[in-house]
Amino acid sequence: MKYKTLKFEDGVLKLIDQRILPLEKQYYEASNYKEVCQAIQKMVVRGAPAIGATGAFGYYLAVKDNFKNEGIIKLDNINEAKKELLATRPTAVNLQWGIARMENILKKNLSKDIKEDEIVNKLLKEAKQIAKEDIECNKSLGEFGNKLIEQGDNILTHCNAGALATVGYGTALGVIRQAHSDNKNIKIYIDETRPRLQGARLTAFEMLEEEIPATLIVDSVAATLMKKKIIDKVVVGADRIAKNGDTANKIGTFMLSVIALKYNIPFYIAAPTSTIDFEVDKGEDIEIEERKEKEVTEIRSVQIAPKGIDVYNPAFDITPSENITAIITEQGIVKPPFGENIKKLLK
Ligand code: MRU
Repeated sequence: MKYKTLKFEDGVLKLIDQRILPLEKQYYEASNYKEVCQAIQKMVVRGAPAIGATGAFGYYLAVKDNFKNEGIIKLDNINEAKKELLATRPTAVNLQWGIARMENILKKNLSKDIKEDEIVNKLLKEAKQIAKEDIECNKSLGEFGNKLIEQGDNILTHCNAGALATVGYGTALGVIRQAHSDNKNIKIYIDETRPRLQGARLTAFEMLEEEIPATLIVDSVAATLMKKKIIDKVVVGADRIAKNGDTANKIGTFMLSVIALKYNIPFYIAAPTSTIDFEVDKGEDIEIEERKEKEVTEIRSVQIAPKGIDVYNPAFDITPSENITAIITEQGIVKPPFGENIKKLLK
């Protein structure tokens, strides 16, 4: 991808503004954790792994500024910043995961006799490491996923689980990138993904940049394509996977899984193991974010629905594990029984 999801330069976190892509290419700059919170909440940056890495840089900025202003690192202040960062978006577990990694470095080093400015440096190193590992992880996941793709497959994807949803390369689109570079002659169908149109704006943009043959459809076309046997496989990302394999992903994913099951079409989740929440047993325990009504009643500030209409706008839904053929991770392909096989990833 020509445009990086995030880059850290001269003490500033620069995020390609995904609210205005593909029409405008602008970087949003966050130089403190409050600006990072804004970026995640307003969806300048989105996609589970990208949020995880962004949150890690936000945590670093919180500690760095706290040390600069107070002369010491005050854990109470850092815990407050952590709470604010975590509250920005509740569903994608990668945010918690990234911040937990940072907190671990902070606490481990605070208990040792190490100068606090050195701890600040260690935290920056860790945030950069999280970002680096994400790209490596996606490439590995892509290689495993590519094994499932056959010559000439037509693949349906939902939302954007691409380079823009991660630090680079992508999860579902990582699998697609690998299959394409392996000359598998694949074709992609992209759900536009109402209401925020991540498919129409971001996945379509990535596919054109990579010259991967793709067709954009409105969400409601998917069932017709599956019934007609035009779709060979569905590959999507994930925001949080429970221990039993139930998967939270962009609203509409569940519906696709039901149709895929009806027509016997393999349904794959592509996600790094950092998206698995080993604390959560099943999908119904995952918190689903609800977003503002305006996302549904307006498009780019133009009102399309009558004022006063009641709106329900959950950002994600849960696909039950029985609808999932396999989960593609950087450690390999996890097949049912998911409860048993997901546990093995811990080792
Ligand atoms: O609301 P978003 O755009 O953050 O939702 C993104 C998704 O649902 C993605 O499919 C998921 O985060 C996986 S991204 C590799």
